[in-house]
Amino acid sequence: MSSRLAPLYTPFTLNGLTLPNRFVMAPMTRSKSPNQVPGDDVAAYYRRRTEGGVGLIITEGTSPDHAAAANDAAVPRFHGADALAGWAKVVKEVKAAGGFIMPQLWHVGLMRRLGQGRNPEVPPVGPSGLFRPGKRVNDPMTDAEVADVIAAFAKGAADAQRLGFDGVEIHGAHGYIIDQFFWEGTNERADIYGGDMLKRTRFAADIVRAARAAVGPGFPIILRWSQWKQQDYTAKLAPTPAALEAFLAPLTEAGVDAYHCSTRRFWEPEFDGSDMNVAGWVKKLTGKPTITVGSLGLDRIFDGGREPVKATEAHFETLIAMFERGDFDLVAVGRALLSNPDWVNKVRAGELAALRPYDPAELAVLF
Ligand SMILES: Cc1cc2nc3c(=O)[nH]c(=O)nc-3n(C[C@H](O)[C@H](O)[C@H](O)COP(=O)(O)O)c2cc1C
Repeated sequence: MSSRLAPLYTPFTLNGLTLPNRFVMAPMTRSKSPNQVPGDDVAAYYRRRTEGGVGLIITEGTSPDHAAAANDAAVPRFHGADALAGWAKVVKEVKAAGGFIMPQLWHVGLMRRLGQGRNPEVPPVGPSGLFRPGKRVNDPMTDAEVADVIAAFAKGAADAQRLGFDGVEIHGAHGYIIDQFFWEGTNERADIYGGDMLKRTRFAADIVRAARAAVGPGFPIILRWSQWKQQDYTAKLAPTPAALEAFLAPLTEAGVDAYHCSTRRFWEPEFDGSDMNVAGWVKKLTGKPTITVGSLGLDRIFDGGREPVKATEAHFETLIAMFERGDFDLVAVGRALLSNPDWVNKVRAGELAALRPYDPAELAVLF
């Protein structure tokens, strides 16, 4: 198997950044940063994955400088001298091991209740105050609140560049704030940020434009997005290729360098009449590089189950066939890399029997 996967152990260049192989560590929340400050243990955690061969790390979601961004006081923030000093150490450790790393900027929007996080008195914010269709938890965001969140993302991108990160990922997936704007189920605005697809992408496009203006042309900006939402696994932002094209065009124009297409099973076709997955469609429609993801190397899909999951070579052949056809450029690996920091090197060496199962209980990480 190791030689069959050889095509994935080749370099890839993303907006001037050359990565040693095609494996990306998927962003995974750990909730292990007290007072939202990443400590030395966080730096060591990411360094171990670099030493284990991963080509690019996308960090756990980290909150931009907005009081309602996080719903957990142990999720690291991406602002404040103490937290940024912690992130500088993370960069230093990963760079010392020869690796590449980007922070994932994450604002939870209405996926937060009053009382949660480090600013418990601050109410949650989201486009129309809807946590999910029909469930109102607050008033719609004001124009000033929208502008503040856009500015917070842009500031985060600028800080990422200043601290020596290799790029930035903007978390537009899984039903959090950006996705709450994308999804008609949670966006009932009648201003420039709500209505048709173009208007619902405006918030994300404004974030990308502001981030791009802050970092300049040569700093990679990745946008993570998903059809599915935690509020509704069956939701689809774009039910047809034409809708997907309309969704992506303004984002690409705003300055996205690559799309991280979050699916829970990477091998699933996206639309009837083609076996291509969503990363393949996005690449075809935009010409931009894509990252695919979802249950690689595990014999059980990403479904929130609490039992241990065995690490296997499940779906490797499909992955290679899709890669050779040009459906994606990079593949993100999540849970397998939690229990096996050296998953990339072990797979390369064909040492699959030595891989440990992913055990959510043992890792005690929160989603
Ligand atoms: C413990 C855990 C935490 C996660 N946290 C995040 C996160 O902070 N941001 C994000 O975009 N996705 C997050 N995800 C989703 C992963 O990035 C990934 O898409 C998912 O685990 C599927 O990949 P896998 O099957 O290889 O694990 C998380 C997943 C897990 C298991």
